Amino acid sequence: MLKFVAMNLFTEILLDWYKAHKRELPWRDISNPYLIWISEIILQQTRISQGIDYYRRFVARFPDVASLAAADEEEVMRYWQGLGYYSRARNLHAAARSMTGGVFPSTYEGVRSLKGVGDYTAAAICSFAYGMPLAVVDGNVYRVLSRYWGIDVPIDSSAGKRLFSALAQEMMDTARPADYNQAIMDFGAIQCTPSLPSCGECPLLETCFCGRRGNVTGYPVKKHEVQVSDRFFTYIMVYTPKTILVRRRLSNDIWKGLYELPMIESDAPLTEEDLRHDSRLLEWVGKEEVAAVTLVREGVRHVLTHRIIHADFYLLPVAQFPPAMKGEFVEIRREELDDYAFPQLIVSFLEKIFSKDLL
Ligand code: ADE
Repeated sequence: MLKFVAMNLFTEILLDWYKAHKRELPWRDISNPYLIWISEIILQQTRISQGIDYYRRFVARFPDVASLAAADEEEVMRYWQGLGYYSRARNLHAAARSMTGGVFPSTYEGVRSLKGVGDYTAAAICSFAYGMPLAVVDGNVYRVLSRYWGIDVPIDSSAGKRLFSALAQEMMDTARPADYNQAIMDFGAIQCTPSLPSCGECPLLETCFCGRRGNVTGYPVKKHEVQVSDRFFTYIMVYTPKTILVRRRLSNDIWKGLYELPMIESDAPLTEEDLRHDSRLLEWVGKEEVAAVTLVREGVRHVLTHRIIHADFYLLPVAQFPPAMKGEFVEIRREELDDYAFPQLIVSFLEKIFSKDLL
């Protein structure tokens, strides 16, 4: 009986908190599953403050399944440029094309089977768009529930995943699935934050296991921390007076589908001397041209979730498109750069180079 009362108290307090703190967001209080899907895919790995503008631009250009399915992938990638995790954009596009007759699926199984949609996103879409009583479990939910109930079962174990899913479901107010899901996510994002949560002003403090013990930051518990690896990229901007050379990344690696400058990856940073003797660069442009290569930016760090990219940038002017680079690279006019999607690391470099008029 006590358990029952406590659970209701949690949900009741949470929903009261939400009423007072609810954020006005463009994908809130709508029921169009397509728009909700786009917003949830953007929010999978992006902060709300950054995601809002991308969402607005994306849905203004692709307002429905049919317009997204009809677009070409490169245009979709351009609307995603700078957001990172580009497989999200490729999956959105592929999923839109897989929807028969441009109709968004209306069952949980249909939604869950879309490319790029996992348990979390399927529950979010189905609860927000269709009012299905399916609890979401994301990082916010793990944090709030583990702290409130003092659960130290690791969230990256299968026992932990099962336990937290069941608990989230049990806490749900089935009469208001959308509000409950939004409330617990917002509560985690605004109040019960990963570091420095505002326990002093928390309406759940009195019944929060960790809050009452002053020990919230050790929760949730994880078995393994993510391993971060280093990668070393040397970019060489090969350009003629009017054009620059780029290629599309096609392998199953980071930034698949985006464009990049000619790049050489190595196990450790390449020195300028190494680069001048690098067989790949010599194959691309030949010995005489390599002599003109100039280092312009060194040791740029670009942090991704599982990787740190260490990048050096060189300039290499050439009189014309080197024949050995044809096939792998395309030559584009400088005014056309905006038509291609590049990783943010390269966008920032190009902006600096052009603003400083170094060419
Ligand atoms: N994070 C992911 N989806 C969200 C949503 N709909 N509201 C708040 N935070 C979110």
